[in-house]
Amino acid sequence: MERINRIRIEMLCRSENEALARNIAAVFTAPLDPTVEEVTEIKTAVSEAVSNAILHAYREDMEGPVYMEMEALDSGRIIITIEDEGVGIQDVKQAMEPLFTTGDKRERSGMGFTVMESFMDKIQVESTPGKGTKVTLIKSLDRIHGF
Ligand SMILES: Nc1ncnc2c1ncn2[C@@H]1O[C@H](COP(=O)(O)OP(=O)(O)O)[C@@H](O)[C@H]1O
Ligand SMILES: [Mg+2]
Repeated sequence: MERINRIRIEMLCRSENEALARNIAAVFTAPLDPTVEEVTEIKTAVSEAVSNAILHAYREDMEGPVYMEMEALDSGRIIITIEDEGVGIQDVKQAMEPLFTTGDKRERSGMGFTVMESFMDKIQVESTPGKGTKVTLIKSLDRIHGF
């Protein structure tokens, strides 16, 4: 399978980088001629994964990196990984359940992973407590033109 493009960026775990990441995802995806709906779905999934890394990975006194990698294949498949070197997740299965949150229930919906799952074809979460978390998001675009 031929690779069309690949990027890897490193950002600090700062809240403004959520908007940065979702817009990079949209611009990266544009040459594959996605539908408006597909772009919205990819942006939203990336937003959820990056906001999790920003909000949950590092304790208040820590500042660590968040990596985003995007790869586009000529089949129309887009593979995105969001990775941090933070606290990790003790129980990934439980964390992925709808409404589960370790955050403040008044502020957090606990629906981030559920949103990622519904908007992408596949999501994989690998996490090691004390080492960090890697979320892989995969989506195949329905129609591609120009390649
Ligand atoms: N990158 C991460 N590092 C550490 N914990 C995480 C990470 N991503 C998710 N989690 C854990 O998984 C839980 C569920 O995430 P999510 O479904 O996005 O809900 P929410 O962000 O609203 O809490 C979070 O509350 C947090 O405990
Ligand atoms: Mg979340």
